[in-house]
Order: sequence, then structure tokens, then C-alpha cells
Amino acid sequence: MVRTVPTHTVPPGPADDVDMALMRESPLDFITGLARRYGDVTRHRAAGDTVYLLNRPEYAKHVLKDNGANYTKEGTPDDAMLRPLLGNGLLTSNGADWARQRHLTAPAFRPSAVRTFDEIVTDATTAMLERWRPSLESGAPVEVDEQFTALTLGILTHAILGADIDGIGEGFSRAVDAVNRCIGHYVPSPDPDPADTARRYADFGRARVFLNTVTRTLIASRRLSGGSSGGSGGSGGGSGRDGAGKGGNLLDTMMSTDHLVSDEDLRDQVLTIVMAGHETTAKSLTWTLYLLDRHPEELAKVREEVDRVLGGRPPTAADLQDLPACRRAIQEAMRLYPPVWLISRRAVAEDTVGGYHVEPGTLVCVSQWVLHRHPDYWDAPDAYRPDRFDGADLPSHLYLPFGGGDRICVGQHFAMLEAVLVLATLLQSVRLELVEGFPVEPEALVTLRPKHGMTMIARPR
Ligand code: HEM
Repeated sequence: MVRTVPTHTVPPGPADDVDMALMRESPLDFITGLARRYGDVTRHRAAGDTVYLLNRPEYAKHVLKDNGANYTKEGTPDDAMLRPLLGNGLLTSNGADWARQRHLTAPAFRPSAVRTFDEIVTDATTAMLERWRPSLESGAPVEVDEQFTALTLGILTHAILGADIDGIGEGFSRAVDAVNRCIGHYVPSPDPDPADTARRYADFGRARVFLNTVTRTLIASRRLSGGSSGGSGGSGGGSGRDGAGKGGNLLDTMMSTDHLVSDEDLRDQVLTIVMAGHETTAKSLTWTLYLLDRHPEELAKVREEVDRVLGGRPPTAADLQDLPACRRAIQEAMRLYPPVWLISRRAVAEDTVGGYHVEPGTLVCVSQWVLHRHPDYWDAPDAYRPDRFDGADLPSHLYLPFGGGDRICVGQHFAMLEAVLVLATLLQSVRLELVEGFPVEPEALVTLRPKHGMTMIARPR
């Protein structure tokens, strides 16, 4: 049966189909332009899809939370990009399958469980600072975005897999890097450099085989050595396994839940967590250090706090509550430069949002980039003011660095613990200054990254 939709229920938007190549050249300008020109619910057509962009917190809440069951990740652009590598893990699955996986994974990421990884974070950061020593002495620039990506990958693999990663760490990082370079890099048509694209795809294929093999081997060895029994179950109770956090590693925690967990399940989970959990945190650190350098008065507040609370010793999870300025500096950086800048879902059944009719199959998007700078909700939306998070009572689903509803980021406590501890450790011993004249431009790929990297001079304090 063909349904006719009354025209007044269709949101405003461009009449013609949007040119995908143009949109992908500058997606942030595109979505900002849509919101400015057409308002808080917009509609456009692109690549055969009808796309809605929702720009008010109550609409985001409706789609992500209140009526979240009507919106699936299946068939979204993210799904098409991530599923080939991640299989049917937590990030990509839907419905009952997702619920089972979330149940399996969540205990390992409770605040009490992730606290036990504090030493892994501070040790890795101190080791990175040690590697920076020649640059600190010579004043040679450091590509901090790359450094933070390697740091967060090392921390996460260590936390998930325990000490075993040490022997294969470099190969693992290289494989993850190859995957990062491939997924999320849009190739326009016609492809300006087909040979390079072919090379990246070949690297991606090899990396996928490598990551799958490593993860399978680690799981098999855990099973053989009885690593799946007697795990902490995420309690953070301090089983003290060598090389892992004080509460054991995340893989053991997942293997020790009382669910039947297949090796394929575990492999998908491990790869999902590694891929979802390191680059995002690295970007939040890169943007925070950049913004603090641009705002010396804010940097001074954070430094004063770090010096007063820590007095030169490494921070621990117990210090987090006493480091609110560190936390706010990161929160505000994630407002201005949200590492995940767009969330997309497909409507399963028809719905109404903001008074507009949503047809089944519509691609419905919420953009953190737009919501986090919406002038109706934020004073001086483009200004970096960490203090706005001091006791802030924000409308629900306005600030969404970790998403919202049931599918909110499972790793958010891990990410905040890690980011605050890295920031506090760094600021105790170095000052990072952007190289004079270095171009900084956000680029919206899978994550919101600085297009040209972030080259800074690290000076000893
Ligand atoms: C600053 C760092 C991070 C940011 C900004 C971030 C952001 C997000 C966002 C926005 C979502 C929801 C996506 C959607 O609804 O479509 C998400 C989901 C997810 N994140 Fe994170 N994330 C971060 C760190 C982490 C870490 C450290 C881990 C793991 C260690 C992780 C693992 C995941 C997983 C597995 C999901 C899927 C959850 C589900 O669908 O149930 N993330 N993240």
C-alpha cells in the first residue's frame, strides 16, 4: 500500500539530491549549514537515502532513548564501514544479540572495575614522557596526535589482554594503524590515486587476518591455562594478575561471566573494544592539549590543581575526585571537538519527531558537532570555557560525547579515567606548545581528528 504523507509533515531541507562528494569534502560545514538554514529538524536526500538531522536535545533523546527500540544501527553508513572488520560485536550488533553482548561486556567497564587500571595508564604515560626526553632536551617538535594514539592503544591492549601483548605489541599497533587508515577514509570518485587505495585495502586485509589470529590465539591460550575461571567478574577486587590491572584484565573478566561465550564472540568483542576505545580517547587528549595551549588562563587553573593535589607524585584513581579542573578541561574540549561527531540510526517503523513524520527506513542523525554548539543552549558556544561544566545542569541529551540512551558508550568511565590521568601526568612535567603557525583544522572522518596532525613543542616545566 502506498501511503501519502501530508507535505506539511516533511521537514525543510534542500530540494535537490545532495552531491555526496561535495558533502564529504566538508561534512561539518554541510551539517552546520543545514541546521542554520533549515532549523532543528532537517531533511535531505543523498545516495538514495532520506536523511533527517535532529538538532534539539529532546529529539536526540527521543531517538536514542525514549523510542530507541525503533531505531537500529543496521544499514547505517557506520555499519557498512565497521562490520567488515568488527563482525557482529557490541558496536555493530542490534536487538537481542546486542543486549546479550552488552550484558557480557558491561561488568568489565563499571567504574569500580576500570579504576584498577590506573597504574597501567600512568606507567604508560611516564614511559612515553621518557621516550620524549631527546625532544624535550633539543626542543624538537613532537607529533602529539600520533603519540596519543599509540599511547591509548598500548593502554587499552594492555588492559584488555594483560601482559601477553608485550611480545606482539608492535605488530598489533601496526595492524590497527592499517585498519584506521583504511576505514573512514572516503575515496572520491574518480579515485585520484587508485594504486594507493589498492595498497590500503591490501594492508587492511592483512591487518584483519593478523588481528583475528592474535586475538584467537590469546583466547585459546587463556582457555587452556584456565584464565576464564575465577576472574574478578569486574568487581575490581584485586586478583593481582601479572601485567594487568589490579582487578585482572578485561578479557578474563569477560570470559569469567556466567554467560556462554564463544570464541567468535570474544574475538569480535576484543577487536571492537580496541578499535572503538583508543582513537576516540586519543583525540580527546589531542584537542584538550591544543585548547589548553591556546588558553593560558585555563591551563594555569589545571596546572595549579595538579600541583596542589599531587605535589609531584603520579596520580591514582583515588585522586580523580580531587581533579575536577582536569576533568572539566577535557569535557569542554569534547564539547567543542567531539571525537564522535555524528550518530546515525535507521527508523524501523514510522514515527513522529518534532512534529514531523518519519518513514520507516529513514536515516536519522544526531550530530554532537551541531548540538554542542547550538546557540539556544550554550553561552558563547565557540568559546573554550571549562568552568561551564562546574555544577552545570544541562538538558538531557544536549551534551553527547559518549552518545545516549541504552547504547551509550560502554567505555566512558575507562575513557575519562584514562584521559584525566594522562593529562595530570603530562602537565606535571611538560608544557606543550603548538608549533608557531601550525595549521589546525578539524577533519570529520570516523573520529573528529586534526587534519594535519598536531605538532607541538614539549618543554620541561
Ligand atoms: C573519549 C573517548 C570516547 C568517546 C568520545 C566515545 C564515544 C562513543 C559514542 C558516541 C558511542 C555511541 C555510538 C552510537 O550510539 O552510535 C560509543 C559507543 C561505544 N564505545 Fe565509546 N567512546 C570513547 C571511548 C571508548 C572506550 C575507552 C571504549 C572501550 C574501552 C569504548 C567502547 C565503545 C563501545 C564498545 C561502544 C558500543 C556500545 C554499545 O553499542 O552498546 N569507547 N562510544
